[in-house]
Amino acid sequence: MAFAALLALASLATAATAAPAASNATCSDGTVVPSDVCCDFIPLAQDLQNLVLQNDCGEDAHEIIRLTFHDAIAISRSLGPSAGGGADGSMLIFPLVEPEFHASNGIDDSVNNLIPFLSSHPTISAGDLVQFAGAVALSNCPGAPQAQFLAGRPNATAPAIDGLIPEPQDNVTSILARFEDAGGFTPFEVVSLLASHTIARADKVDMSLDAAPFDTTPFTFDTQFFLETLLAGVGFPGTDDNVGEVASPLPFGDTSSGGNDTGMLRLQSDFVLARDERTACFWQGFVNEQEFMAQSFKNAFAKLAVLGHNPDDLVDCSAVVPVPKPAVDKPATFPATTGPQDLQLTCTTEKFPTLTVDPGATETLIPHCSDGGEDCPSVQFAGPATDAPS
Ligand code: HEM
Repeated sequence: MAFAALLALASLATAATAAPAASNATCSDGTVVPSDVCCDFIPLAQDLQNLVLQNDCGEDAHEIIRLTFHDAIAISRSLGPSAGGGADGSMLIFPLVEPEFHASNGIDDSVNNLIPFLSSHPTISAGDLVQFAGAVALSNCPGAPQAQFLAGRPNATAPAIDGLIPEPQDNVTSILARFEDAGGFTPFEVVSLLASHTIARADKVDMSLDAAPFDTTPFTFDTQFFLETLLAGVGFPGTDDNVGEVASPLPFGDTSSGGNDTGMLRLQSDFVLARDERTACFWQGFVNEQEFMAQSFKNAFAKLAVLGHNPDDLVDCSAVVPVPKPAVDKPATFPATTGPQDLQLTCTTEKFPTLTVDPGATETLIPHCSDGGEDCPSVQFAGPATDAPS
């Protein structure tokens, strides 16, 4: 009931409204857009897919979506314009500055992937490239919303300062304050943006591991992440002394079926946001609410994408953003070996949904490859009671 009302509100909310178009244009593929500047993004989308993303919600897509955040959030209302220009492409224009900051460890792959497009698509600014590439990357992830995309960001003239990107060891107060200072984000919008972590893995938090996922479905934009973050942690997928990491509910991979052995990794920031009284009900409210989660993310992501710009100065080119792959039609479920008894709920005003528990002694990660070929990982998460390594 409460969620339905919130969904209606979320759908009505318009995060960024571009200037009304004077007249429409029709691109060569027939897409009708408010201005012909939008047409340049159609071949860009094709090149991004063919040369980087491969129509997949894999590592390159994840990294580019993370890049949209790191480029945009580097702006501060309290410190003023010299601190950073927001979504201005400064990550690409100054690749030896911001990508080197600690909070952006691992971002360089996405920066290096996108830089060549600045010269191959010279009419497109760096800020537009980052945010449009993120929208295309999202469209590869089943269940993701079709992102709003406004074009016309001027190029960055200076890099942002260090210290503006939240880190997983930050507490809730400082995370919420940072988002508020960057662009007036509410706690609900912060939680909404973290739907991005449903398609996330970490390379750099525990350097002893290859990429470790944040939930059992890291290649689909679904609500499992919000459920699994609420489960009690039982162990670490690798070493247990990493800054910004806390115990995860499914830390143990199982190599018996030939998959790799990386279990699930949990960020401290996701853990505390899921349990803090300011954010816990929002967090819990996304569990098994696919449409509400996707729409809420879309609204907050649209706001993020224009930080540092007046939307009235931009052109609404959303029509050239590819339509995302449909959601996997599967309700949220407790992973095998876990259940309602493992929930750590702080929200007292909302009822937690009734969910089923996956059968079996291990939980299998949903492969991201549509062809199910050899390269597709088939990782199994083993529960602590059965297969925990000694
Ligand atoms: C409190 C705010 C946030 C913190 C502390 C945080 C922190 C992190 C960390 C530490 C990683 C792992 C990086 C690595 O080791 O490779 C990560 C991954 C990721 N983050 Fe965030 N993040 C936050 C918000 C966001 C937002 C707002 C977005 C996008 C809208 C985002 C998108 C991603 C994505 C897509 C990945 C996966 C990257 C990959 O798989 O290579 N994050 N985040």
